[in-house]
Amino acid sequence: MALTKVLVDELRDMYSAENQLVKALPKLAKGAKNAQLKALFTAHLEETKEQVLRLKQVFEILEEKPTGEHCNGMEGVIEEGADALEKDEEGASFDSGIVGAALRTEHYEIAGYVAAIAMADTLGLKDVSVLLGKNLNEEKQAADKILAAAKPILQQSAKQPEDEDKKPKTGKEKYSAQKSREDEKKAARDLVGHRSAK
Ligand SMILES: [Fe+2]
Repeated sequence: MALTKVLVDELRDMYSAENQLVKALPKLAKGAKNAQLKALFTAHLEETKEQVLRLKQVFEILEEKPTGEHCNGMEGVIEEGADALEKDEEGASFDSGIVGAALRTEHYEIAGYVAAIAMADTLGLKDVSVLLGKNLNEEKQAADKILAAAKPILQQSAKQPEDEDKKPKTGKEKYSAQKSREDEKKAARDLVGHRSAK
């Protein structure tokens, strides 16, 4: 069935994404200044390892191999996290950037699992659905916990004075700024006539 093939591709993407996170989460845990955030990332790393194993079980059920797709989306999201780790910010403000990056990884995964579960349900693959549902719940809970832990961090960051003596932009930052102007320019024509947004 065509949908089975789409599901397998989706799952290979998720398998790659989870494996990439096994490597990325320790960096977030190491980089975070806040102890609770550190602990959450470390705990989610252990869950992520378990999720990789669950996905392997899913591939066994489907009698397919788990490799074959590299998840470019997660690579990009992790790259955003690497940018946050390089930011020249203090304490809570630094952690606030990490929180944004970490939430992006969780919500990216949530979207992937929601789609895969809908496909598995359509195909009547109950065992697959149950296993994927476990992963999905862990991602949702991880996102909720990160957001809860973020509240006091964001409040603290809001009280921090803004750094006056800004360092000169790195080559990477200049490139990013240039690309953002290009993004704006490309969309500009399509935005004509959409000036009435409230
Ligand atoms: Fe995950």
